[in-house]
Amino acid sequence: MSRILVTGAAGFIGSNFVRHLLRARSGAQIVGVDKLTYAGNLESLADCTEDARFRFVRCDICDADAMAPILGDGIEAIVNFAAESHVDRSILGAQEFVRTNVIGVQVLLDLARAHEVNRFLQVSTDEVYGSLGPSGKFTESTPVAPNSPYSASKTAADHLVHAYHHTFGMATLITRCSNNYGPYQFPEKLIPLFITNLLEKNKVPLYGDGMNVRDWIHVQDHCEAILTVLERGTPGQVYNIGGECEIPNIEIARRLLGHLDCDEDMIEYVTDRPGHDRRYAVDISKITKELGWRPRMNFDDGLAETVAWYLANRKWWQRIKTGEYQEYYEKQYGRGGVTVKPE
Ligand code: NAD
Ligand code: DAU
Repeated sequence: MSRILVTGAAGFIGSNFVRHLLRARSGAQIVGVDKLTYAGNLESLADCTEDARFRFVRCDICDADAMAPILGDGIEAIVNFAAESHVDRSILGAQEFVRTNVIGVQVLLDLARAHEVNRFLQVSTDEVYGSLGPSGKFTESTPVAPNSPYSASKTAADHLVHAYHHTFGMATLITRCSNNYGPYQFPEKLIPLFITNLLEKNKVPLYGDGMNVRDWIHVQDHCEAILTVLERGTPGQVYNIGGECEIPNIEIARRLLGHLDCDEDMIEYVTDRPGHDRRYAVDISKITKELGWRPRMNFDDGLAETVAWYLANRKWWQRIKTGEYQEYYEKQYGRGGVTVKPE
């Protein structure tokens, strides 16, 4: 597999995956597609666009006519990261979540089928399994029970992917990962929001009692797992991915206060997220036993590196907070489609 389409390439995990693929597979030819919504940032791919093996096209995955020529260009595999990804935004309005996360996936599946793409990897989430009590972990056979409009839309997509494998024999793969952290994460998610707020001497909003638990994984470990599944996973299968690192939100907040020399009074307890899932924890024995993947990054080291990255890359996140990052590509390329480095 050398010609790979990465959708959602200008987002947090997509941009890290493009960078990982360029480093790890010298023969890879990558087309990165992104609609450049509020969450997409061409500045996250600045170093990659200089590589002759990478081409970026601004495109909406729901737009079958615009996507078809990209697929027609000999694409052998698709890794779909494109999504509306923030739970709080899905509570404010679900329409874009259904459009991109469900209809977008159906459009991609139809195009992949028409163009006989060899592998289709859907990047899904552990949130499809719903919420855990104090014990137990999500396995691949845990019944899906999504609780937010976001996770419901991701679950619908997983069902479609399964159906295209079952009905048409397409070589599909689904990965379900836990909470990622690391460089280039949009500062609306817990860790980058808290780091950037504290750097700007603002308080951090902790939902409810702060005792909700997430299973944290460094984005680089997630990218390595995705490439492993893409290359060696069994078609039709689901693979859980996780960091084996359960931490309550209050503990994350306290560790960040420590890193940035701030007092506990910088935590502001705020009204809880409606329908807030209490605990996620992922059982990774299937991917470990079948494909030999395990997370490598220790959380304390990863968090320290991440804080250091946000300190060293103030311009990247400050331009997001002021909105300048969106003016950048509109000034450079206008409001329409962008192709960086056409072939
Ligand atoms: P993100 O919001 O940072 O990136 C999503 C990208 O998709 C953005 O660049 C956005 O512009 C693009 N996009 C949105 N709608 C599009 C459309 N219609 N057409 C083309 N591009 C579009 O999200 P992320 O955190 O990088 O997540 C990537 C994927 O991984 C998502 O599918 C998400 O469900 C999944 N996931 C995320 C996590 C996590 O912790 N962040 C964990 C597990 C799974
Ligand atoms: O589990 C994987 C999922 O992780 C992905 O599928 C999603 O795309 C990704 O956004 C993430 O979802 P969460 O809702 O778990 O992530 P978020 O960073 O929004 O919140 C993490 C926890 O922190 C959650 O319990 C809510 C809490 N929180 C979040 C924010 C933004 C706060 O207490 N305060 C906040 O301001």
